[in-house]
Amino acid sequence: MRLVLGIETSCDETAVAVIDRDGAVLSSVVSSQVATHAPFGGVVPEIAARKHLEALAPVLDQALDEAGIELGDVSGIAVTRGPGLIGCLLVGVAAARTLAVARGLPVVGVNHLEGHVVSGWLEAPDLPHPALALVVSGGHTALWRVPEPGRYVQVARTRDDAAGEAFDKVAKLLGLPYPGGPAIDRIAEQGDPAAFPFGEVRIKGPPAFSFSGYKTAVRDLMRRHAIAPLAHPDDEPPRPIVDLVASFRHAVVRELLRRVRREIERDRPRSLVLAGGVAANRLLRAEFLRLADEHGLAVAVPRPAYCTDNAAMIARAGLPRLLAGGNDLDDIEAEAALPLGGPEARRTSRRHR
Ligand code: KG4
Ligand code: ZN
Repeated sequence: MRLVLGIETSCDETAVAVIDRDGAVLSSVVSSQVATHAPFGGVVPEIAARKHLEALAPVLDQALDEAGIELGDVSGIAVTRGPGLIGCLLVGVAAARTLAVARGLPVVGVNHLEGHVVSGWLEAPDLPHPALALVVSGGHTALWRVPEPGRYVQVARTRDDAAGEAFDKVAKLLGLPYPGGPAIDRIAEQGDPAAFPFGEVRIKGPPAFSFSGYKTAVRDLMRRHAIAPLAHPDDEPPRPIVDLVASFRHAVVRELLRRVRREIERDRPRSLVLAGGVAANRLLRAEFLRLADEHGLAVAVPRPAYCTDNAAMIARAGLPRLLAGGNDLDDIEAEAALPLGGPEARRTSRRHR
């Protein structure tokens, strides 16, 4: 096993990457569909699947090109098989299987969430275990213990909206551009995080995150303070909106870190990982690094290109299984719902459904 090809098509990014057996990234190409879905204010699954079909071959060519290799140099393939949009996953899985058959290569199916977790090791190969990994994206928000490489124990996950989804929905309420996370983050830098009150989320039962209450709180505050959404997404936001998004961002970050801090105190990990698209958030990054520092822990906050959906993390997640001689060619299946973290996590998620 010399070079691994990673393929990711679970949502609205078509991505292909090449890494070597030590996990070094030779190329990582991502073609985003954000502009395609922006007019709809969210990802349209049918359009996304069709766009993957169009984009995959050119993205593959570019990834091989940038790595300076040919398809014949690849020795194994790792592809996202779930969780995600089923029509989108099928495009990647079919492509991976086709390449594997045509070239006589092993192929392994990867859990997208494992990809996000191991992006910490793409950035910091020597990050020690046990680790604690927080994945925050537009589709997922969950916390895992990683006692050793390849083992994941889910500590908590969101029971309603993902953190990124909350950013996107609040941005929509306020008439800000899509996707909302980056817009809110930028505007919040100028605002007063203490201007508007957001209570702490109280949850009964097993540890979990919840963000839908913040969206309701924003709607109520808009009504109570007569804050109108922007007439046009590019308008200069007035003071009350600037302060409102600063307060909202502060509350979401506080909520995420509260759970992480509690778990650090309970489980005493040696390192922390922050990943997923929301890890681009300036306040979250800064506070997460501070939390690690406070507890004297090693920390990986991957560069944004490894935090948002990409195929390097998928190749990295598949690498150990390919190195061990694994091959899923005959039974690889795309699955829209695919938990990460063993039976403990599965029990929790069923109760929440
Ligand atoms: O990981 P990702 O690219 O796609 C998913 O797998 O969901 O994450 C995209 C999400 C979107 O919800 C976007 O609004 C959010 O990440 N996001 C941010 C920031 N940048 C992206 N949220 C908060 N602050 C940011 N700076
Ligand atoms: Zn993702």
